[in-house]
Amino acid sequence: MKTFFITSSGTEIGKTFVTTLLATQLTHSGYRVRALKPLATGFDPARPENSDSDLLLRAVDLRLDEKNLARVSPWRFSAALSPDVAAELEGRNIDLHELTDFCLKQENADVTLIEGIGGVMVPLNQEHTVLDWIQALGVPVVLVVGSYLGTLSHALSAAGMLQARGQTIAGVIISESTNQPMKVEKTAWTLERFLHPIPIQILPRLESQEAAPNLLTLLDLHL
Ligand SMILES: Nc1ncnc2c1ncn2[C@@H]1O[C@H](COP(=O)(O)OP(=O)(O)OP(=O)(O)O)[C@@H](O)[C@H]1O
Ligand SMILES: [Mg+2]
Repeated sequence: MKTFFITSSGTEIGKTFVTTLLATQLTHSGYRVRALKPLATGFDPARPENSDSDLLLRAVDLRLDEKNLARVSPWRFSAALSPDVAAELEGRNIDLHELTDFCLKQENADVTLIEGIGGVMVPLNQEHTVLDWIQALGVPVVLVVGSYLGTLSHALSAAGMLQARGQTIAGVIISESTNQPMKVEKTAWTLERFLHPIPIQILPRLESQEAAPNLLTLLDLHL
């Protein structure tokens, strides 16, 4: 089984959008896909629909019910805050080993996609960040960044942290932001110069996912 970790330079950039696209494209290519959002914050049990967990369940054609929710997002917290704080507010603690064991569990799948939470340096508890989670898993990373003003520093900081810890970046996806003073191609060109030879892929702002470019070229080397 192959596993990929989808992270980003911040929140609301496009991790779920990319993860659902990858799940759909992998499924169409004949792979059995497991898509996870192990840590979900801002989760309202009364309204589970349209949460990231629900979007991932839909992408792999699973119903939204308690059992499937527990399979996709076992750690769910109400507060829409960073996971360390959201857990603390409920008197809970996120244990990195438990989290990693869950992600690496061998299930009936060819490919496991793990959507992280927030950006690379988001704290999970008093000691660990998402980066520690990625390092503990040791799987290739798909880094999703935007094309808004400020993205270059955010994207290169995130990539730099991953590289400093020796993590493999399978590719960077620039999910086109709504507000951008610069063409997305220019952002791609700049990131290419600094991140070469990591593949960079532009994902335009789409009305529908059917119009998406093939993102699997980024994963090909690792599949
Ligand atoms: N390329 C795109 N085309 C169209 N819509 C997009 C694109 N990228 C992201 N979006 C939309 O932008 C919003 C934020 O994206 P998304 O939920 O994927 O971000 P995220 O990084 O998963 O956020 P979070 O940190 O909350 O998990 C969503 O409504 C999503 O559908
Ligand atoms: Mg998300």
